[in-house]
Amino acid sequence: MSVLIKVDKQNVAQCEAEALVVFMRKGEEVGGLSLTMKTKLKKVLKERDFNGGWGQVEFVAGLGEGRSIFIAVVGLGDSEDKINEAEGARRGLGLVTLEANRLKLKTIGVNLNGERDVAELSVASLEGVEMSSYRFTKHSKKLDKQYKKNRINKLTIFCEAKKVSDVRKRVLLAQKILQGVIITRDLVNQPAGHMSPKELVKEARDIAAGSPKITARIFNRVQAKKEGFTAFLAVAQGSAEEPYVIHLKYKPRNARKKVSLVGKGITFDSGGLSIKPSLGMETMKDDMAGAATVLGVFSVLDKLNLDIEVHGIIATCENMPSGSSYRPGDVLTAKNGKTIEVINTDAEGRITLADALSYAVEKKPDVIIDLATLTGACVVALGETVAGLWSTDKNLSLQLVESARKTGESIETMPMPQEYAVKLESQVADVPNLDSSRYGGAITAAMFLREFVDDIPWGHLDIAGPAFMERQYISYWDRGATGFGVRTLVNFLRAY
Ligand code: BES
Ligand code: ZN
Ligand code: ZN
Repeated sequence: MSVLIKVDKQNVAQCEAEALVVFMRKGEEVGGLSLTMKTKLKKVLKERDFNGGWGQVEFVAGLGEGRSIFIAVVGLGDSEDKINEAEGARRGLGLVTLEANRLKLKTIGVNLNGERDVAELSVASLEGVEMSSYRFTKHSKKLDKQYKKNRINKLTIFCEAKKVSDVRKRVLLAQKILQGVIITRDLVNQPAGHMSPKELVKEARDIAAGSPKITARIFNRVQAKKEGFTAFLAVAQGSAEEPYVIHLKYKPRNARKKVSLVGKGITFDSGGLSIKPSLGMETMKDDMAGAATVLGVFSVLDKLNLDIEVHGIIATCENMPSGSSYRPGDVLTAKNGKTIEVINTDAEGRITLADALSYAVEKKPDVIIDLATLTGACVVALGETVAGLWSTDKNLSLQLVESARKTGESIETMPMPQEYAVKLESQVADVPNLDSSRYGGAITAAMFLREFVDDIPWGHLDIAGPAFMERQYISYWDRGATGFGVRTLVNFLRAY
């Protein structure tokens, strides 16, 4: 369910919305209101020392235009950076939505009369409202009913008449892309007992069934074995759940380029025989977030009119301890022929990705991008909200960082120092799956993956932090899955 959007050329004085949002840049006046309103508002804001700081919101009750119960003044700061302003709007509208929910208000109006970047701010506003409205209610009728009753159901954007049609087009597309974010969040939030590899396969099949340009090829255990996914199948062998390799293909008529998206799809990571302590295991249903992101992107591809072929590759299984588990000390052969010494069965993601990346390489794409909740070390390095990016291609890396910035998602580029090559030396195989030193663990993991991408330009996003929140840092990311990466990848594909 998503919010109903209306783009309206009328004046905010006729605003029917219960909450009216206006924007303010640092040191500037609020635009688009009547003179009396503006004077009153200015006085209140001065009393409260509110000067339009980035992402801050001041709620002013009792002087709303039209029928609005309060005016929310959203600060956009003073950086003059359009992309940064849009993120201020996104976070601001996220806060307004949370406050509106608390007060049981259901309609929000956004005044963009007199604004410069109307389309950008409209899209950001919608994203803020939609992403902070999300709740995962699949397992409680009571919560679901409450949620449906209370959520914002209408967003009205007020702008100049000549901008209405452009804004309408932009917000409608943004809303379709947000559906992809929601699909990803739902898949990740679903407990592992409800989201096994076969459920991911079902989702992939449903996506393919919904578009004539998308096909799904699924390999079961026997077929995957025949195809040489032996390292991946070793990780899978301890679990009672059947493993699958999913290969989605989006093929438009005149494809100019070929992009391959690879997602880590461990539906539950117990650590295997190198079992995790309970504290670290609690959230490990999120270890398929990379796969869910690829599926979220595929669910909207048909609506983007791209002229590039996109491949989505997911090797999905559970990592479980049992009598049939793979063991520390085992030596596995990956699909590209390289051998892997298993030091620790909890460093399983890179093993499954070794085969998935080798398979991606066989299809000869122009670039490969993988997304994986790969290492706790990446979360130690960058914290919970930022993803690490490792790449063999400067251009690709720049494009990914810029695509992310436009969505408000943070990606930081990370190094692969040549001298760390010793971390990838094994006494018995081509590569070990873990270094004996725990330092630089996210880097070693990335360098391990690099062994399987041949010379194809490659980018690796470690999303172990931002895929799933255990605490709320950003207004539109409640606790739980964030859908991180979907909007970034969509932007990337559209610009590529
Ligand atoms: N799935 C985890 C990484 C992870 C950690 C994801 C935190 C999301 C949040 C991965 O498979 C793993 O277990 N990594 C271990 C590696 C260890 C054995 C060196 C880790 O990072 O602790
Ligand atoms: Zn693990
Ligand atoms: Zn894992």
